[in-house]
Amino acid sequence: MDRHNLDRRSFLRGLAGAAVIAAGLSEASAEEPPVTMARAVQNTINPDIQKYRGLIGALEGFSATIIREHLALLERYRQKLSEVESRNQTIDLALANSLAGSWRNHVMARLELRNSVRLHELYFDALTPKSVKPDQKITKALEESYGSFDQWWIKFRATAMAVRAWGILAWDNQAKRAVIFGLDNDSEWPLGLDPLLVVDMAEHAYVLDFIGQPLAYLDAWLARVNWLAVESRLISASEK
Ligand SMILES: [Fe+2]
Repeated sequence: MDRHNLDRRSFLRGLAGAAVIAAGLSEASAEEPPVTMARAVQNTINPDIQKYRGLIGALEGFSATIIREHLALLERYRQKLSEVESRNQTIDLALANSLAGSWRNHVMARLELRNSVRLHELYFDALTPKSVKPDQKITKALEESYGSFDQWWIKFRATAMAVRAWGILAWDNQAKRAVIFGLDNDSEWPLGLDPLLVVDMAEHAYVLDFIGQPLAYLDAWLARVNWLAVESRLISASEK
């Protein structure tokens, strides 16, 4: 499964629009849905997606459209994951092999989609319309690993620019320190790391608002990071 091609195709063809409606994220469906659509929307609104609704049009530097479409993509990932997991019982396990086949497709798709959903939740959970500064605990962790917040940001930004999927700040439970990693694919998560902060570097995350300007996207994203959420993750990870 080539998620990046899937993302790009889905985004450019506007297929996410259907998920916008299904997730109840479109303005029309949110406020005054057409009578025929209203019942369908009421039956399909996903509360897990709805909790991010306040981000639409509220993040300085990000258009309502890009956030809405990105949330629709997350909804599609959730729906696909649900579909994949529901097919679990109908696949002949005796035919499993590592070259090709239904069970291999199931195993690979489940891993990729599960991580896609979780990574996007981490991304959206740590965005805020407000201005939230890093607290003492996260600042100290970054200073211990990188010398200063600014030095951390230089390395984090460079890492994000060097990958095709996710820039990651994580807590290394073995080394007991904050570390930076980057992913080209959602299924690559490094062992032994608890996520603190992730940034989506797939084109769908920024191209509408920052075409050809991923550095500007990263700067706008950093200004919208909810460091309270990052602190909470750091406390959970470091006190295990
Ligand atoms: Fe994304």
